[in-house]
Amino acid sequence: MKVLVIGGGAREHALCRSLSLDPDVTALHCAPGNAGIAEVAELHPVDALDGAAVAELAQSLQAELVVVGPEAPLVAGVADAVRDRGIPVFGPSADAAQLEGSKAFAKDVMAAAGVPTARSYVCTTPAEIDEALDAFGAPYVVKDDGLAAGKGVVVTDDVETARTHALACVSQRRAATPSGAVAGDGRAVIEEFLDGPEVSLFAVTDGETVVPLQPAQDFKRALDGDEGPNTGGMGAYSPLPWADPKLVDEVLQTVLQPTVDELRRRGTPFSGLLYAGLAITSRGVRVIEFNARFGDPETQVVLARLQTPLAGLLMASATGNLAALPPLRWSDGAAVTVVIASHNYPGTPRTGDPITGLDAVAEQDAPEAYVLHAGTRYDADGRVLSAGGRVLSVTAAGADLATARDRAYTAVGRISLDGSHHRTDIAAKAAEQAG
Ligand code: AMP
Ligand code: GLY
Repeated sequence: MKVLVIGGGAREHALCRSLSLDPDVTALHCAPGNAGIAEVAELHPVDALDGAAVAELAQSLQAELVVVGPEAPLVAGVADAVRDRGIPVFGPSADAAQLEGSKAFAKDVMAAAGVPTARSYVCTTPAEIDEALDAFGAPYVVKDDGLAAGKGVVVTDDVETARTHALACVSQRRAATPSGAVAGDGRAVIEEFLDGPEVSLFAVTDGETVVPLQPAQDFKRALDGDEGPNTGGMGAYSPLPWADPKLVDEVLQTVLQPTVDELRRRGTPFSGLLYAGLAITSRGVRVIEFNARFGDPETQVVLARLQTPLAGLLMASATGNLAALPPLRWSDGAAVTVVIASHNYPGTPRTGDPITGLDAVAEQDAPEAYVLHAGTRYDADGRVLSAGGRVLSVTAAGADLATARDRAYTAVGRISLDGSHHRTDIAAKAAEQAG
């Protein structure tokens, strides 16, 4: 099978790594990719957001499957452009991707499907904002309605901070960000605060059948102890020793299947990866958000544990054949990933700094630990440089979380990137609980 992956972050490196290990994959291509992906796939300098260009590339490569990694191309209709040429695609249509592209749309789908989520108001005026903030009280949760790379959400006890963010959301129609995601559609979503630990649960679906993957936990805040601003994600682990073993089944019945059924009923069937961001509250499971693609960095740990070859699974989603797929196989062990971020991330990150120590990890820690690249590129001399906010996702597997965690941090310790930062507490509490 010839496969083309779209995107260039650590999630796409994880996807490419798993695809490269699948004996059914005869050729692997990626656009645009990054320095790490170049080691397992042939790179093509094509803009991931340009549907016509991606479809052209897929056709010229005679790709039999196109896997779209990030949300921005999905929301921009890249999967539709490829599908129009009769090429199977893993990833939803632009219409179905509104589940992630618009929080207001997601709330509407959840209400129709009876899916438990935080109560919320969609606000477009200062008066509506004040009313909603008053109605819920502190802590306040204010979200930009559109795509914001995990950074459009403010959770605060301070009503002025909440109001300022909400006003910014409604007053700004921001231009496309460098990644092409359009944030700021003039609406702020203000919602009830959900207490309790968060779980990321991914499911592969073909629009009808839903196959849940193993749950993972992401660390959204920039600093140890869940301090600092929200980020795209600073680390992850799987499995979750503290979670109820029935959680996956419960979420399949109450969240995933009803959502997929509702989108099919609306004439916008969702195929690809449905990501449920969940809060396990004292009153039960609640959806915090849906995403229309694999999560980053959770994919790095989920795929580290998946033993079923990946290409067949993604192809079954793309071609509507998931019902015939045998049950997925998983390792009993654990996986941990630690994100190394550049100076000043999640603000305006500094890029262009050389990264050293990657060879040492490959020589001393492989195969249990390995480095997945996020924002990296080669310079003219073949050195690897930082090229984004999240730079590397250092991933390790082990018999248990403590072992995987030790291996990941040993590898992190070998890597140098001037000004970089990473969290030191990824999976620490869970490893203790499991031990
Ligand atoms: P989102 O972009 O919707 O995933 O939100 C990013 C992060 O903000 C989540 O992972 C949570 O940590 C936090 N968050 C979002 N919504 C809520 C909520 N209703 N209650 C508490 N925390 C929230
Ligand atoms: N790790 C959170 C996300 O992918 O949205």
